[in-house]
Formats: sequence, C-alpha cells, structure tokens
Amino acid sequence: MNLVTYPDRDLMFIDLASKLAGEIEAALFHEDRVSLAVPGGSTPGPVFDELCAADLDWSRVTILLTDERRVPPDHERSNERLLRDRLLTSRAAAAEFLRLVPEGEDTSAEIERLKTILPLNVVLLGMGADMHTASLFPGSPQLADALDRHAPPLMLVDAPEGLEPRITLTAPVLTGAMSTHVLITGDDKRAAVERARKAKPTEAPVALVLGDAEVHWAP
Ligand code: 6PG
Repeated sequence: MNLVTYPDRDLMFIDLASKLAGEIEAALFHEDRVSLAVPGGSTPGPVFDELCAADLDWSRVTILLTDERRVPPDHERSNERLLRDRLLTSRAAAAEFLRLVPEGEDTSAEIERLKTILPLNVVLLGMGADMHTASLFPGSPQLADALDRHAPPLMLVDAPEGLEPRITLTAPVLTGAMSTHVLITGDDKRAAVERARKAKPTEAPVALVLGDAEVHWAP
C-alpha cells in the first residue's frame, strides 16, 4: 500500500484531482476512449468540484460509478445525483456517463456495456470505517461471490441493515484497473486502512485493492 498523507483535506482534494486529471490525460494519448470510475458517498465531492474543470478531451472519457445505491437517480442518496451535480458539469459535462443500474434484477445488458470498456483506466474508491469499499461489505451474503476472480463484473448486493441494496463493481474489475486510488479522511479510517492491510478481503474488502492502490489520507 502506498499511503500518501496530506496536512489538510483541501490540499488533498486539489492534489488528487490534479493527479487523476494527469492520469486521464496520459491515457488519452494512447487510447481512443478512457474510463474513470468514481465512488459516491460524502467524501469525494470536493475532488469532483476540481476535476470537472480540468482541461481534458472529456468527450473521449466514460465516467461510471464504482457502486450505486438502489434509489431513484434524483434521490438525495443517489450517487448518480452527486455525479450529475458535481462531476458531470463544467468541462466534464462532455464526458459520457455509463449508468449501470438495471430497471429490475437482470443486469445482463449493463454487464455487456461494462465489458466493452474493461479494463478500467482510472479508479477512485472510497472506504468505510468497516473496511468496505465500493459496495463490497464485510458480512454481506454476496461478498464471497463478488470477491471470486470469476465473478461477473457487476453484481446486485445487500448492504448492512438500514442501508438500501446496492449494485457494485466486483473483484475482477477493481483489481484489473490500470490505476487505483483510495480516498479517506479522519483518524478512524486511517486506523481502519492500517488494519485492512493485514486482513483478508473476506474480512476487510478494501484489502483487495490495497496492494496496488495509492491511498490518500488527510485528518
Ligand atoms: C457509497 C460508496 C461507498 C463509499 C464509502 C465511503 O455509495 O456509499 O461508493 O463505497 O465510498 O462508504 O463513504 P463516505 O465517503 O460517505 O464515508
């Protein structure tokens, strides 16, 4: 795990946005289309605020979510809504958004669309204090299947009690990405990521990506 620590969050958000923009730009030099997968949740908004203004050929970028809560797209807990408000705007409004939420329970059309852009170029992940990442939650009944190296790229999964069901990218997609960043804040998540680096993905799903990821932390 490559842990990058910052003295404060603002600096981290600006630095990370510029790093992500640099990686997208580099990938655009040798690929026709470049993919960027990002998390929802409460942490990445300020990164999106910076990144959306980056001077890139966004018309050749496909943006998708690492995971989504199964709520309507205009719901206040929708990750798509966060993206539409804060990332798919300014210059990045020219990017394509790949929506991976099926109407019902059949994900086959979404999986086919997702397969056309694999492997992902740039992935940004969040993490919870329980060491989940994307919507791979410890204790979830579908976790073992989602961690399998032959897992379908996308799976409908349950979240812990009280949270809405989710759809998530799975282990083969997350570990197959060309560049992976994890964004965390606060002492509890710093302690959690340190615990996770010594744990198995079945107990600490974020451990799945920590070997290759750059983890960005600010207090
Ligand atoms: C989601 C996510 C999830 C998130 C973590 C951290 O939809 O909830 O994509 O994996 O990144 O739960 O969330 P916070 O940034 O809100 O702490």
